[in-house]
Amino acid sequence: MRMVDLIIKKRDGKELSNEEIKFWIDGYVNGDIPDYQSSAMAMAIFFKGMNKREIATLTDYMEHSGEVIDLSAISGIKVDKHSTGGVGDKTSLVLGPMVAACGGKLAKMSGRGLGHTGGTLDKLESIPHLSISKTKMEMVEQVNKIGLAIIGQTSSLVPADKKLYALRDVTGTVESIPLIAASVMSKKLASGTDAILLDVTVGEGAFMKNMDSARELARTMVDIGTHLKRDTVAVLSDMSEPLGRAVGNSLEVKEAIASLHGEGPEDLMELCYTSGSIMLVQAKVCKTLEEAREKLHKVIEDGSAFEKFCLMVEAQGGDVEYIRHPEKFEMSKYSIEIRSDVDGYVSELNALEIGESAMRLGAGRETLDDVIDMSAGIVLSKKVGDKVKKGDLLCIVYTNKEDVDSVLVDIKNAYKFSKEEVKALPVIREVIR
Ligand code: URA
Repeated sequence: MRMVDLIIKKRDGKELSNEEIKFWIDGYVNGDIPDYQSSAMAMAIFFKGMNKREIATLTDYMEHSGEVIDLSAISGIKVDKHSTGGVGDKTSLVLGPMVAACGGKLAKMSGRGLGHTGGTLDKLESIPHLSISKTKMEMVEQVNKIGLAIIGQTSSLVPADKKLYALRDVTGTVESIPLIAASVMSKKLASGTDAILLDVTVGEGAFMKNMDSARELARTMVDIGTHLKRDTVAVLSDMSEPLGRAVGNSLEVKEAIASLHGEGPEDLMELCYTSGSIMLVQAKVCKTLEEAREKLHKVIEDGSAFEKFCLMVEAQGGDVEYIRHPEKFEMSKYSIEIRSDVDGYVSELNALEIGESAMRLGAGRETLDDVIDMSAGIVLSKKVGDKVKKGDLLCIVYTNKEDVDSVLVDIKNAYKFSKEEVKALPVIREVIR
């Protein structure tokens, strides 16, 4: 078999056999197939797609390209959650403790941010001394003890995705449904969870820009999970504007802490209640979504979700004083207010522009080696649907950089206004089972 023949076959829109997909993935992981041939294959898949059988096979070979974790030492049904990425998405930091406080078991392996999207691991690492590295044994012990662990993916888990994702990121081949589905599902399947809740983001700040493609991605992933006997549900959530009000690592941790105290923004909390209810039913902790939602409200009101977050931070070596007293988080040197020039209603707040701007302020990385400024970011005072008067505060920009004039212009341009009243889009667009 020759890789060039497989690339030509896919380029011409033909199906790849299981053996051919195995040849590519095995060869790429062990170094026999070079990056340039894998990127050509990724581009051919981007344009010509894959059928269901090809996607299932690709997922399977990617999952088994490294270690497959056995979580059977954790009692009960393990649930995991994965978002396809967004701006201001601190959901896992709020949802994880909420679900665990209700009795769910969550052993979550998270990723880092790249480009305009943030990553849960970076956010967690803004908590002084917190470690995202744990052995499998340590993770199992932690979940058995407190019901929750959020750690980094071990290097032995799905090496095929590690190589391929980095390659896709620099070859314009990220936004491909077969490649995203195989990437997400191979990781979730290899991490040993019993049930999977997928948050498929849709809108300007997401990889899927419209409902049709988000639905197709969600359906593809739900089918793969269900076929492999994992209870899989997808929530389609809006990412046309950022989620919540904070964008940037320690700013988002502070918003997560406020949310666990019952002071969370409406869109973030609705996403947590909807996703959490589904997860508690998947975990068989609750019988109905209504019962689960009630339980989730209770753990916010009685403070047990917040205490669960403190336990997790402590178990992972983090300084809990920062969680109990978030004013301890270091602030950036500069805070710059952006104000409205007009009267009206916010009709648009472009999540992609805000995510890219936050990255340029220092909150994200352009390459994997970039060092993040944990205090940098943006806190949004006005979001879509809000009424504004000339001179009202739109947002506050936090940075340690001196020369950010062009970023400030871009942030202001991310806002669009209308004279007519505007209704914000609901955060939950659809649920696919
Ligand atoms: N998230 C992933 O884990 N993989 C993708 O390909 C896209 C988003």
